[in-house]
Amino acid sequence: MNQSPSTSIQNIRGLDIYPPTHPRIQKMLAKADAPEIHGDKVWFSSYFIMDYLDANPPAPKTRIMEIGCGWGLLSMYCAQNFQARTLGVDADKNVFAFLELHAKRNHVKVKTKACRFENLKPALLTKQDLILGGDICFWDELVEPLHTLIANALAAGVKRIIIADPGRTPFLTLARRCRRLYKGKLKAVNISKPRKHEGYLLIIDNPFAATSP
Ligand SMILES: C[S@@+](CC[C@H](N)C(=O)[O-])C[C@H]1O[C@@H](n2cnc3c(N)ncnc32)[C@H](O)[C@@H]1O
Repeated sequence: MNQSPSTSIQNIRGLDIYPPTHPRIQKMLAKADAPEIHGDKVWFSSYFIMDYLDANPPAPKTRIMEIGCGWGLLSMYCAQNFQARTLGVDADKNVFAFLELHAKRNHVKVKTKACRFENLKPALLTKQDLILGGDICFWDELVEPLHTLIANALAAGVKRIIIADPGRTPFLTLARRCRRLYKGKLKAVNISKPRKHEGYLLIIDNPFAATSP
């Protein structure tokens, strides 16, 4: 069957990605157990992080946790390009069917865990080198849970945390707090593919960790 470009699988940065308009995705989204907290497509801030990692590649076998992973394309990019060991975490277990579909299609493995940001335990955080998240601080109510996670992760020895966003007010509130408390850096970034977008990276390096990931 011939599909218009907007419903066809697209290859972006080496990964096959289903658009939300693809018939298979439409069928999954129509089910009762469809994602409920905006995990219904691939959001674009992950691409800011991919660019950053291309310029600052993590060592092979780096343990990466993607928080608010949704369909998990950022984790897949890290597995494919940096041989990272990846764990996708999301509060909404309904996103994982979409993650599994993409992992299978792209021949990569991503472990998953259903958990809210603030409930991630030190025992799990201590096993991570790097924490990444794109488009995850979009409501005022997410600032406190994300700050709790960041504080817990730094205390657990996670070396670096990177959160990307177009510049929504809750994200900028979180960023200001992290600049003050942890010397986090806010970096303006932009991408031209798959479309033109501008945004920010919040990069927090753990002052107590021995080396960068
Ligand atoms: C806007 S989507 C972004 C998804 C993915 N990061 C991307 O870039 O495509 C936000 C994701 O964060 C998840 N989320 C929202 N609140 C959360 C929380 N308190 N703890 C963990 N995940 C959460 C949602 O289920 C959703 O998958």
